[in-house]
Amino acid sequence: MQISIEPLRLEDARAVVDAEDEQTVRWLSEEKSTIEGTTEFIAQLSRDAELGKPKRVFGIWLDGHCVGTVDFDPDVTDGLEPGDVNIAYGVAPWVRGRDIAARAVELICATIRDRAVGTRAVIRCDARNAASSRVAEKASFEHLREVQIDTEALDDGSPVVMHVYDRNLL
Ligand SMILES: CC(C)(COP(=O)(O)OP(=O)(O)OC[C@H]1O[C@@H](n2cnc3c(N)ncnc32)[C@H](O)[C@@H]1OP(=O)(O)O)[C@@H](O)C(=O)NCCC(=O)NCCS
Repeated sequence: MQISIEPLRLEDARAVVDAEDEQTVRWLSEEKSTIEGTTEFIAQLSRDAELGKPKRVFGIWLDGHCVGTVDFDPDVTDGLEPGDVNIAYGVAPWVRGRDIAARAVELICATIRDRAVGTRAVIRCDARNAASSRVAEKASFEHLREVQIDTEALDDGSPVVMHVYDRNLL
């Protein structure tokens, strides 16, 4: 099983859309993706990078196929501290449970360290998303704290609780 991460390209849009299911929409993309919209998203990322924005998205490649995405974004601040580099990820339902997300997180941590993006990687998991918490634990992150997110709320109006995990990259 060969796993790598590669900068996301316009031609990966179809694979990203194919890899999405209701769990991806719920916890990562927030709305159902289209190939057209995802292509524009990737183009916008490229334009933003040229303007100096630090967010980077990578395709997760398994044996020659793009099966998901993993990204880092030092500009995410909700529930985090200055200098933290937020990581988010999703993999296709048909390859879940094979340590692919945990391995992709390991790889993006090495990229963050090599590019000197930051010294601490952080993963925020909704308290209801047990699989994502397991990915953080398996990728050697430690549970740092729980936070209430101000920008989101549950249907009953109560705040969303996130587990925050961190990993020192020094
Ligand atoms: C979270 C996600 C990326 C995990 O991908 P994956 O490649 O299956 O992850 P791994 O195989 O590395 O590990 C998944 C772990 O979660 C566990 N898991 C899966 N569903 C679970 C559940 N409902 N409750 C508890 N644990 C669960 C698996 O058993 C596994 O742990 P184990 O190895 O100890 O058995 C994938 O489920 C996904 O894409 N979900 C939708 C998007 C998402 O939630 N992204 C996270 C936002 S930061």
